[in-house]
Amino acid sequence: MAIQICVPKEVRKDEQRVALVPDIVNRLTKTGLSINIEASAGELVGYSDKDYTNANIVPDSIKLLGSADITLMVNPPTAEQISQLREGSILIGYLDPFSNLERFNQLNARKISAFSVEMIPRISRAQAMDALSSQASIAGYKAVLIGSNILGKFLPMLTTAAGTIRPSKCLVIGAGVAGLQAIATARRLGAIVEAYDVRADTKEQVESLGAKFVDIEIKAEGSGGYARELTAEEKQQQQDILARHVASSDLIVSTAAIPGRPSPRIISTQMVEGMRGGSVIVDLAAEGGGNCELTEKGKTTIYNGIKIHGPVNVPSMVGNHASELYAKNLQNFLELLIQEGEVKIDLEDEIIKESLITHDGEIYNPRIKEQVKGASS
Ligand code: NAI
Repeated sequence: MAIQICVPKEVRKDEQRVALVPDIVNRLTKTGLSINIEASAGELVGYSDKDYTNANIVPDSIKLLGSADITLMVNPPTAEQISQLREGSILIGYLDPFSNLERFNQLNARKISAFSVEMIPRISRAQAMDALSSQASIAGYKAVLIGSNILGKFLPMLTTAAGTIRPSKCLVIGAGVAGLQAIATARRLGAIVEAYDVRADTKEQVESLGAKFVDIEIKAEGSGGYARELTAEEKQQQQDILARHVASSDLIVSTAAIPGRPSPRIISTQMVEGMRGGSVIVDLAAEGGGNCELTEKGKTTIYNGIKIHGPVNVPSMVGNHASELYAKNLQNFLELLIQEGEVKIDLEDEIIKESLITHDGEIYNPRIKEQVKGASS
């Protein structure tokens, strides 16, 4: 019998995305897979059930999850969904592996082999499966549009009969995938852009996009291409230099993150007090606690006339393209997992090894295993 791939409708309230779009379903069915999609799973991103011409549309989510060999999701499954997954089946999606550790016990109880897309290593071979990158890029783009909507100013220079308007200044904090896309977007809209990161490599990348690099002379490369946390002295040095740039910015997009850790606090209340009234901060790190001390997750805070916006689940706001890219990431991951029509979990493969969190009733990933041990001791 063909391998059964199942895609439930996402249950998270602010989620529009769907794990597979019709075009990718068509490609997967050509390889002999059977695709089952929950009714109306794609409707919020513009795909009706009829658009999924090569999939079986299943109205009953319990039946769907109970028959899956492989379940594809965007958000982590709820406890109820886990209880409905077929025992011994495979799950692929965002699993938020550093926060809800109880989820892994539930997955183990059902002997689910669960792959977390967040843990796919950032190596060249995995680029086409890298959901963190595809979705971060969307978030960076959208953050600038959100900010420009809230800002009572043009981003570009504008010459009119009534006079010339100067271009807005935009500061991007954290020049990873989201930050670089934010820089490119702000530049396309005509802003003067500066950017800052603690990884040395980013200087060249920032400059190649036509932005100015703010050098605070701290190099904080961590492992796996990520940044490490700064020491107390480094944080002070960062704040001293950055305060001037924060004060002169009309729009700040902050994206700084350290995997598995709360977002680094970079913009203090005092720094916000130095900003001009009407300026805007879009804090993409809001979900992890925020890069700005005043950020409130999911809200817009007004402090001294400065608007601090802490959006959550930004990729979902560009749901159609976010789903398209995510579905392509999953298709590429499935190509690694399914060989000659059979599921093969090759534990020697670096991508499989690092993204597999639970397997055979146990926590497989060493980092998560440590974390669970630490939490229970
Ligand atoms: P991220 O989302 O973990 O963090 C965003 C940015 O914030 C990073 O550039 C980080 O250096 C920066 N940051 C952290 N602490 C900071 C601080 N205190 N002040 C200022 N900036 C701070 O990073 P993302 O975007 O997920 O990228 C992580 C790494 O993975 C990068 O080196 C990127 O180039 C690399 N990468 C590699 C890929 C590949 O080769 N397949 C694909 C995508 C990314």
